[in-house]
Amino acid sequence: MRSLIDILELSTAELEELVATAEDIIADPQKYAHKCDGKKLATLFFEPSTRTRLSFEAAMYELGGNVLGFSEAQSSSTAKGESVADTAKTVSCYADIIAMRHPKEGAPLVASLNASVPVINAGDGGHNHPTQTLADLLTIHRKKGRFDNLTVGLCGDLKFGRTVHSLIAALSRYENVNFVLISPRELVLPNYIKESLKSKNITFTETTDLQAIMPDLDILYMTRVQRERFFNEEEYLRLKDSYILTPEKLYNAKTDLSILHPLPRVNEISVAIDSDPRACYFDQVLNGKYMRMALILKLLEVC
Ligand code: CP
Repeated sequence: MRSLIDILELSTAELEELVATAEDIIADPQKYAHKCDGKKLATLFFEPSTRTRLSFEAAMYELGGNVLGFSEAQSSSTAKGESVADTAKTVSCYADIIAMRHPKEGAPLVASLNASVPVINAGDGGHNHPTQTLADLLTIHRKKGRFDNLTVGLCGDLKFGRTVHSLIAALSRYENVNFVLISPRELVLPNYIKESLKSKNITFTETTDLQAIMPDLDILYMTRVQRERFFNEEEYLRLKDSYILTPEKLYNAKTDLSILHPLPRVNEISVAIDSDPRACYFDQVLNGKYMRMALILKLLEVC
């Protein structure tokens, strides 16, 4: 039995196998419509979500399975003091697979060590979000046809942005990927990730100036400043609009730039960009469902 807590638990061959399965689902959804008949997915969300929870649920329904769960901690026995370990043991009695989001880093790992069914990390605090990375990878694959030889700009809250941490980990395994880290000084990428990049001789540059590096980018991954991770509201208000992408700011961008954002957005991307063919963020939303379908099939060992 296998869980998915960190994207690096999947080899590059497995990532590419998931992308291939997702592409096959897109080409022939009927082939997959009964693959999970009789199976149940539990979505245990201790933190708000629109895309991740609903795409997991849509994924399981489209595979023929069923869904149970909760969307806030207050409606579960966590509100009465139950531990993550006991919740995982309990839900294992009712479901075949669990997707868990939790504000505490490591909570899905604790769940996986106590559950008797596979556990998928659907986002843990400011740490990791591996299934968002699966959505990002399918989007990059569909737009660029490759994961190597890319200059990838990551912009915004690189300190708390768990999607950025997981995407860097996944893309780090490919040749000639050059990361450009664009953030206010207060929200730079954590040192442990930078040290990991250095130890693998992966090139990255840090800057506060998005406009200056725009012409170099193949991918621009915008992120929201994560209000819920700040201890100080004033600091959040000071930093929240550090980067706002508008059509004018794309004047020196490549014509085949891909603009990604895990969503939700607040102000980081003007809605005027939504109709630009380079905007890929709603493709990411849909691709997330297909990759979660592929992941559920893999972890349930359904052929
Ligand atoms: N990208 C993402 O995790 O969105 P939600 O918080 O809506 O699930």
